[in-house]
Amino acid sequence: MKGLILCGGYGTRLQPFTFATAKQLLPVANKPVLSYVIRALQKAGVNNIGIIVGDRHDEFKQISYKENFETKITFIIQRFPLGLAHAVETARSFIKNNDFIVALGDNIFTQKLRPAVELFYRHRADALIFLAPVKEPQRYGIAYLEDGVVKHLEEKPPFPRSNLAIMGLYIFKETIFPAIAKTRPSRRGELEITDALQELIKMGGKVIPYHYEGWWLDVGRPEDLLLANHKILELQSKSCFFKIAPSAHILNSILRGPITIGDRCLITNAVVGPYTSVGEGTKIKNACIEESVLLKNVRIKGIKRPIKNSIIGTDTMLLLSKRDNEGCCKFLLGNKSRVELDR
Ligand code: TTP
Repeated sequence: MKGLILCGGYGTRLQPFTFATAKQLLPVANKPVLSYVIRALQKAGVNNIGIIVGDRHDEFKQISYKENFETKITFIIQRFPLGLAHAVETARSFIKNNDFIVALGDNIFTQKLRPAVELFYRHRADALIFLAPVKEPQRYGIAYLEDGVVKHLEEKPPFPRSNLAIMGLYIFKETIFPAIAKTRPSRRGELEITDALQELIKMGGKVIPYHYEGWWLDVGRPEDLLLANHKILELQSKSCFFKIAPSAHILNSILRGPITIGDRCLITNAVVGPYTSVGEGTKIKNACIEESVLLKNVRIKGIKRPIKNSIIGTDTMLLLSKRDNEGCCKFLLGNKSRVELDR
């Protein structure tokens, strides 16, 4: 079985961070979101993976050598993000006539995938969809089942009759390609994978559900990145409560786990953690920070109030002004930055 990870798309909801870094390469517990997806596929026995990338493909190439995956990785360019079904179609020459598992590159899931792969083969299905109950079905592709078989699928239904959402994980046979060929663009102008699956059902294809019971998260918005960071640090804390790079220096500071601190960080007179990831090269002095994600080379110095639930982008500085700013704050904020000050 081959793997296909979808990393095209614009990532607009995660701006301003996605101006500099593709959404799937943003860090959760100091590792790119994509690395969790690749490892999950590897664990399911998939060792030939295609990654769909958009116009920022160069950024993605670094991940293969930095993370040293023991998996063959092929990058496939999708010129425009015209929908998930379009992304799958773009990979047709990579997939050939193999069965394949598709994962969204911005989803993190913790449950093993192998039982689903086994179910797919046992039932000789054309497609398997991972389903999980959700609180707001209007936001998802929703599946309607009858006697354990998928009867109907609907993308973001205004009046959902089920709360079973289609997660960002699917297993397909090559029979999905003729179904995609019959799919027409949706109201939002995309070739939806939900519509392609609906076509597959119409064509007599066997689509089976797999009820996913573990934790999963779609890292689409800033609050999702913070939640994913919290959850992954919590999971990792069972084996490692303080993950501190050997080249990091901690002086006269209190660290509260779970926490991860990257290479060459310098933390002085500070209180850091819990649930905080500090990216490489970051310097924190005379500050207190918790429940946050700092990307690379962040500088934080002399901030008297605690910093919480924050994401701070690469090369960003938060400083106590050296000069007299006449009691005023000074901001140099780029597009779509956001500052929230306490009253
Ligand atoms: P989305 O989160 O739906 O889209 P997006 O990444 O453009 O984000 P935003 O809505 O904030 O602008 O995409 C889910 C995943 O699928 C993500 O990893 C990107 C990927 N994708 C593709 O590979 N090709 C596509 O055509 C689309 C729409 C998404």
